[in-house]
Amino acid sequence: MSRASSAKAHDAEPLLPVVEELGIGFVAYSPLARGFLSGAVKSREHYGAADFRQLIPWWAPENFDQNVAIVSELTKFAETRDATLAQLALAWLLAKKDSIVPIPGSRNPGRVAQNIAAVDLALTADDLAHIDAIAPTGGIGNRR
Ligand SMILES: NC(=O)c1ccc[n+]([C@@H]2O[C@H](COP(=O)([O-])OP(=O)(O)OC[C@H]3O[C@@H](n4cnc5c(N)ncnc54)[C@H](OP(=O)(O)O)[C@@H]3O)[C@@H](O)[C@H]2O)c1
Repeated sequence: MSRASSAKAHDAEPLLPVVEELGIGFVAYSPLARGFLSGAVKSREHYGAADFRQLIPWWAPENFDQNVAIVSELTKFAETRDATLAQLALAWLLAKKDSIVPIPGSRNPGRVAQNIAAVDLALTADDLAHIDAIAPTGGIGNRR
């Protein structure tokens, strides 16, 4: 990868053909939706007033329950593949295009190892279609 762009992968899907045409790598930051796709998400009242999740629409009261329902379905599907939710999310990005490079953040060495192991989770076209059926447009509300 000689050059790289940085943006949100799902929102930026229309850009991917151009990225591919130009031979640019696509850096998918916050690929676990800033922890929403961690399997341990909590609603806003569990965080301080200055916490960044107070500002992210996925955590907004009108969106939160719907997003938790999506995550619950994705978690069940991940389990059928002997994977964690985080691994499924990362494998989904890796399966989309060779040029996509997810950069998950974690303070925990065990979770870093778990995230790296997502490269071994090969998703089929049927798997991707199943994930798209669960979350056709990603989460509800901008995740930022
Ligand atoms: N260029 C930009 O504008 C931009 C913007 C945002 C982010 N970034 C970069 O993107 C990278 C990742 O972003 P991010 O940290 O905001 O979001 P993220 O990778 O989407 O999510 C990180 C969160 O997921 C948790 N997590 C990670 N692996 C997990 C696992 N296997 N199971 C369960 N939970 C897991 C982490 O908790 P623990 O730490 O407790 O594991 C943390 O709360 C960072 O390097 C960040 O600097 C860049």
